[in-house]
Amino acid sequence: MSQNLLEISDFCVSYGAVQAVHQVSLSIAEGEIVAVIGPNGAGKSTLLCAIMGLLPASGQLRLDGLAMRRIQVEAMVAHGVALVPEKRELFGEMSVHDNLLLGGFSPWRRGQRDQAQRMQEVFAIFPRLQERRNQLAATLSGGERQMLAIGRALMARPRLLMLDEPSLGLAPLIVREVLQVVASLRQLGVAVLLVEQNARAALQVADRAYVLEMGALALSGQAQALLHDQRIIDTYLGMGRPATPSAPAPAG
Ligand SMILES: Nc1ncnc2c1ncn2[C@@H]1O[C@H](COP(=O)(O)OP(=O)(O)O)[C@@H](O)[C@H]1O
Ligand SMILES: [Mg+2]
Repeated sequence: MSQNLLEISDFCVSYGAVQAVHQVSLSIAEGEIVAVIGPNGAGKSTLLCAIMGLLPASGQLRLDGLAMRRIQVEAMVAHGVALVPEKRELFGEMSVHDNLLLGGFSPWRRGQRDQAQRMQEVFAIFPRLQERRNQLAATLSGGERQMLAIGRALMARPRLLMLDEPSLGLAPLIVREVLQVVASLRQLGVAVLLVEQNARAALQVADRAYVLEMGALALSGQAQALLHDQRIIDTYLGMGRPATPSAPAPAG
């Protein structure tokens, strides 16, 4: 059993007086794909931003078993953690190639000079990006933009990639394509923390999953088991529900 790459415990995040994440504990091992599913407003993005050090949080965060005293973005990046936020934040007026190059800037600053090789690896995962390497990011389709955002994050050679709703706004066929790519990251040895409202798609590619409801963990387990959990089916998968007889019309 490999040691956990990331472990958080009793994580709490507040916006002013309002607590958006309550005492969340979760872990992810090297090379594992872990999903956090939950409805809109459950606190998924807040959780990712706090793990990345973009929002202040209370609780413990361990990387490779070592407790981080303060969670800061620079330190998380240096430890190999990358976040693809819900707003993809691509540079629309720049080419695919230049967007990718920017993703490799932080390792370049640390003296690594293997950006060309890394870009070839990204192109191997996303051949479509190679075909469109000179196209402006703003002119890409939604699915291609998502691939570019993931590719750009991969340029930094992360050990843990955190994806905030990669399926958001994409047509079902494209969702499948993007999530197949997420599954293939397993072969690169990259661990993925996948946050999704699209529970079915996320559970199909994840090893394990946590269910976040109103800022707190409601359930966790093996993704395959959750796919067959009646409560998950009823609440998140919208199938297998017995046809509900229509409610009697209110009197009067
Ligand atoms: N900047 C903010 N200021 C105040 N409240 C916020 C802010 N961002 C999110 N929230 C609130 O925190 C809760 C969790 O939001 P969020 O993390 O975006 O959920 P999710 O990503 O699961 O949809 C929601 O109730 C939301 O309204
Ligand atoms: Mg969100």
